[in-house]
Amino acid sequence: MADRTPTSVLISEPQLQDRVRELATQIRADYPENVHIIAVLKGAFMFMSDLVRHLGGSVSLDFMAVSSYAKGTTSSGEVRLVKDLDTALDGKDVLIVEDIVDTGLTLTYLQEILQARGPRSLRTACLLSKPSRRKIDVKVDYVGFTIEDKFVVGYGLDYAEQYRNLPYIGVLG
Ligand code: IMP
Ligand code: MG
Repeated sequence: MADRTPTSVLISEPQLQDRVRELATQIRADYPENVHIIAVLKGAFMFMSDLVRHLGGSVSLDFMAVSSYAKGTTSSGEVRLVKDLDTALDGKDVLIVEDIVDTGLTLTYLQEILQARGPRSLRTACLLSKPSRRKIDVKVDYVGFTIEDKFVVGYGLDYAEQYRNLPYIGVLG
C-alpha cells in the first residue's frame, strides 16, 4: 500500500467528464476520417477510454508503455520504452493520448520516435499540463486542464501504482 493518501479533490468527476466530452467534440471536428489513437500506458487508460466513447465515428487504437518515473514523485529524467505498438503508423492520422505533461521529456521522446515512423499527421492530447515544470518546450495540441505544480493522482494517474482507479483528480496530502 502507498504511504500517502489523497486529501483534496482538484478536478471533480463531473468536471473531468464535461471537459473530456468537449475535447472529443473538438478532436472529432479536426479528424473527419479515422483517428488512430495511441494511448500511453498506464496513466492514460481512463482518459482514453472516456475520450473514445465520446468520439463517435471511425477510431482505431493502439497502446504503448513507457516508464519515466520510478517509484515516487520525482522524475528519473530517463524515458524507457516498455511496450511498443502492434501496428505500423505510415499514412495514419495519429493522436497520442497522454495523462499529463510535466517536464515534457516523456512526450518529446514519444513524438520523436513516432514521427520517425511516417504517420500522415501526428498530434498530442494530454488531460493535464503542468507548464511550470517544463524542461522542454513540447507541443501539445489538446490540453484538458492546466494545473499548478502539485503531484496529482486518480483518473489513471498513480503514486506508487495506487489511486489510478479514482474517478477524480486528487492532490496527495
Ligand atoms: P514528464 O516526462 O516529466 O513530462 O512526465 C510525464 C509522466 O510523468 C506522466 O506521463 C506521468 O506518468 C508522470 N507524472 C508527472 N506528473 C505526475 C503527477 O502529478 N502525478 C502522477 N504522475 C505524474
Ligand atoms: Mg504517463
